[in-house]
Amino acid sequence: MTAGELAGAPVISALTPDHLALQKMVRDFARNEIAPIAAEFDESGEFPLETVRQMGQLGLMGIEVPEEYGGAGMDTLAYALTMIEVARADASHSTIVSVNNSLYCHAIYKFGTEAQKQKFLAPIARGEKIGAYSLTEPMSGSDASTMQSRAVLNSAGTHYLINGRKSWVTSGPVADYVILFTMTEPEKKHKGITAFLIEADQPGFIRGKKEPKLGIRASATSEIVYEDYECPVEHVLGEPGEGFKIAMTVLDAGRIGIAAQALGIAEAAYEASIQYAKERQAFGSPIGQFQMIQQKIADMKTRIEASRLLIYSACAAKERSKTSGERYTLEASMAKLFASETAEFVTDEAVQIHGGMGYSKELPVERYYRDARITRIYEGTSEVQRMVIARNELGLR
Ligand code: CAA
Repeated sequence: MTAGELAGAPVISALTPDHLALQKMVRDFARNEIAPIAAEFDESGEFPLETVRQMGQLGLMGIEVPEEYGGAGMDTLAYALTMIEVARADASHSTIVSVNNSLYCHAIYKFGTEAQKQKFLAPIARGEKIGAYSLTEPMSGSDASTMQSRAVLNSAGTHYLINGRKSWVTSGPVADYVILFTMTEPEKKHKGITAFLIEADQPGFIRGKKEPKLGIRASATSEIVYEDYECPVEHVLGEPGEGFKIAMTVLDAGRIGIAAQALGIAEAAYEASIQYAKERQAFGSPIGQFQMIQQKIADMKTRIEASRLLIYSACAAKERSKTSGERYTLEASMAKLFASETAEFVTDEAVQIHGGMGYSKELPVERYYRDARITRIYEGTSEVQRMVIARNELGLR
């Protein structure tokens, strides 16, 4: 869509009174309940189940899911605002919110049958159960369509037998249900991938090794191994062979969430830096009076606000797509690319402004720096986002 074609359509989503109320509610909750435990859970790597359940009770685990399916029935901007506020307090919690909302709930709401929504969507949107999304394999990351796992339909046509190993599954160690993408017809390449709704308590579902990570350490990540897992045909999400399209469609929504997460982390690091620059004395004055610190502050703030505009623009594009059916891949990728690189820039400068204290675990700045790094990698690396953006602009998709 060109700028001319956008005439009359909102290019940036505006905040309504409902958005402002949600933003305040999430900010207060995150500041009072999440921020105080963030360092402890980062250190232990334990999954913060209690606060995740509380977020479920507040409606934060299914923000865009209609109320009839247990969600809050709000829009994409509400989801982004939630991600920003939760990530400002703790990136790990926001990773859990992100996968549950945009990769899991969004996929089932968009592609699921009524029966699937009742069973697999409502309890997850209410936050009673936890959902995961499983695309990546040990030898298939950015090149997502080259997966080795297989699902074979039995002769009666009632069940698929699933075998294979999936890696980097966010919430994998605790998920109750998983959306699994696997090959049903390898000769058809990406058109031979099918999406399945998997129940973790069934035989053949084996949680593998938990990843020891640099950042977002309280967000549990693991391998999941499938050994002769029997999946009934009623649990195929969408049509057989439609899995790659579903995976990509859902990632467009997910990338807006990761952009918002990156912005939240950047904001936290920026706010800490402003406070420190006003308080910390050197050479007889607060360091904020030095031009070298001021240059950092100016660049940090400008990139943060530019990220916010790209995120709001992507939210507006996703809202438009609900009626137009048009993809918002470009807007989502630009927001994710810019916001994640901003988060890395801002958290790096925040460490620098704080000097030795930025490197110390006594302050949260070092955690922001570690947590920011994943946003350039998961749900599509910066390199993949640049590929998507350039292909879009060159008409190569
Ligand atoms: N929406 C809908 N359809 C899409 C699409 C999108 N955003 N992107 C591509 N498609 C469709 C294309 O239209 C095409 O369809 P047809 O064959 O019908 O024409 C088909 O998919 C293949 O498209 P491409 O030829 O562009 O596919 P490709 O193999 O070149 O891959 C890619 C493109 C962008 C690199 C893609 O593979 C990709 O995004 N890779 C990164 C994967 C990724 O983000 N992984 C992270 C997983 S989740 C995670 O991080 C862990 C977690 O738990 C949070």
